[in-house]
Amino acid sequence: MFKVKDGDVLAKRLGAIVVGLFEDDKKPDGIVREIDKKLDGYLVELLAEKQLSSGFKKVYKIHTFGKLESKVIYFVGLGKKAELTFERVREAFAVVSKNLTKDEQVEVAVALDTFLTEEKNNQVFAKALAEAFVLTSYRTETYKQKQAEQKSLEKVVVYTSLDEDAVEEALIVGESFGAGTNFARALVNAPGNYMTPTDLAVKAKEIADRYGMEYSVLEKEEMEKLGMGALLAVAKGSDQPPKMIVLKYRGKEKWENVLSFVGKGLTFDAGGISIKPAANMHEMKMDMGGAASVLGAMEVIGALKPDVNVMAVIPSSENLINGSALKPGDVITSLSGRTIEVRNTDAEGRLILADAVTYAKQLGADYIVDVATLTGAVIVALAGITTGAITNDEDLMEDVLVAAGEAGEYLWRLPNFDPYKEMLRSSDVADLNNSPGREGGSITAGLFIGEFAEDTPWVHLDIAGTAWSKSESVFGPKGGTGAMVRTLATLARNF
Ligand code: BES
Ligand code: ZN
Ligand code: ZN
Repeated sequence: MFKVKDGDVLAKRLGAIVVGLFEDDKKPDGIVREIDKKLDGYLVELLAEKQLSSGFKKVYKIHTFGKLESKVIYFVGLGKKAELTFERVREAFAVVSKNLTKDEQVEVAVALDTFLTEEKNNQVFAKALAEAFVLTSYRTETYKQKQAEQKSLEKVVVYTSLDEDAVEEALIVGESFGAGTNFARALVNAPGNYMTPTDLAVKAKEIADRYGMEYSVLEKEEMEKLGMGALLAVAKGSDQPPKMIVLKYRGKEKWENVLSFVGKGLTFDAGGISIKPAANMHEMKMDMGGAASVLGAMEVIGALKPDVNVMAVIPSSENLINGSALKPGDVITSLSGRTIEVRNTDAEGRLILADAVTYAKQLGADYIVDVATLTGAVIVALAGITTGAITNDEDLMEDVLVAAGEAGEYLWRLPNFDPYKEMLRSSDVADLNNSPGREGGSITAGLFIGEFAEDTPWVHLDIAGTAWSKSESVFGPKGGTGAMVRTLATLARNF
């Protein structure tokens, strides 16, 4: 999709040109001045009359009527130079890319230099560009008989005087981050009947085949032999067989220092016998959002090939109701040997993740980051804006927070004090209680998983609020967001 060129952006005939405008530039300079000249001073007039604004994220389209090679110029306001961060430029690119898509532009040129501040390492703005263009190109798959026909952007030529190789590299990184996120979005948006545990395993295998990773899956019979009582207990209520999906990416000679991503792959959560209300139950097809984020990150890792060992572990099941479904009050034995009293069958995520975390450790995980649409409580606490985190290891937590910052994703820590852990030991009959009550719900849910990480450094990310958006955003439509794909990928690249 992207190409880098040094040279005159105005000389080439492409459908449209994209130009950034800073508020500080009182008089047009560089390319903007050239455009103004070719348009007989029209641009300066528009700016003076405030018909054209350089306010942040304002987009103006101007037709050139044969005076320039390209037919249209899209100006995008960037606000004040001093305030332009990676995040803000990413948003500005997203807004302009949405306009281009809406107008069905197919080939465009971007005058990257008009977006640059005097800061060093400006090539990261090329990452912002590619990421934003790819993210905004995502369209939700529909199953309507009549599909809406819309042309999409095919070619984006980036004109710049910066080092071509550095810009190209940044574009590739941004493009992969965007593509990995879109991959996760598509998995989350797929209806439950199109995305069963078996389908999820197929998706994981496709990634493995595409990038030469090792793929394996545990079937129900093998789980029984190993004693994965927690995952099996959740799967009992469904006709769909559960899967424990594993992908290994070897970025080092030796299989050591293994960073493991564990993703909740609950392909539909009806709550089980502790059934959920009907109102928004259809949205519970998104309960494999953690698995989707992990697979999206593996997609990025496969494309960019960092020198780190990464292992994805995805426990996958449905949480339904039939005659053999798990019941409140049942006591189950997890792979670790710990027994669990199931007070609420809707607190199933922590059960399947318990076995997945133990299994990841058995497979040699040295660091574990689990990602899960785990609790409604995290939405109450942080809304759909921020992902909630909890940990047993300050250093790994710091690495994850830094990665989230670089990736431009909001992440906040929840407390992990001992009295919260005590709340998990409130069963009279088993080692752990899977649902110790509403209070501190996201904390106890996270720490429940932490019990199984034991002393392996571990961070839990609760994306129940952030994996799904009820409304459109600058970066994409409502529905699956691909939250934490870019954070996980950044963590792996920094590791
Ligand atoms: N999958 C849900 C959590 C969820 C809620 C995800 C809303 C996305 C949006 C999870 O399995 C669940 O049902 N959790 C319960 C736990 C409770 C029973 C202790 C919850 O949050 O209500
Ligand atoms: Zn549930
Ligand atoms: Zn769930």
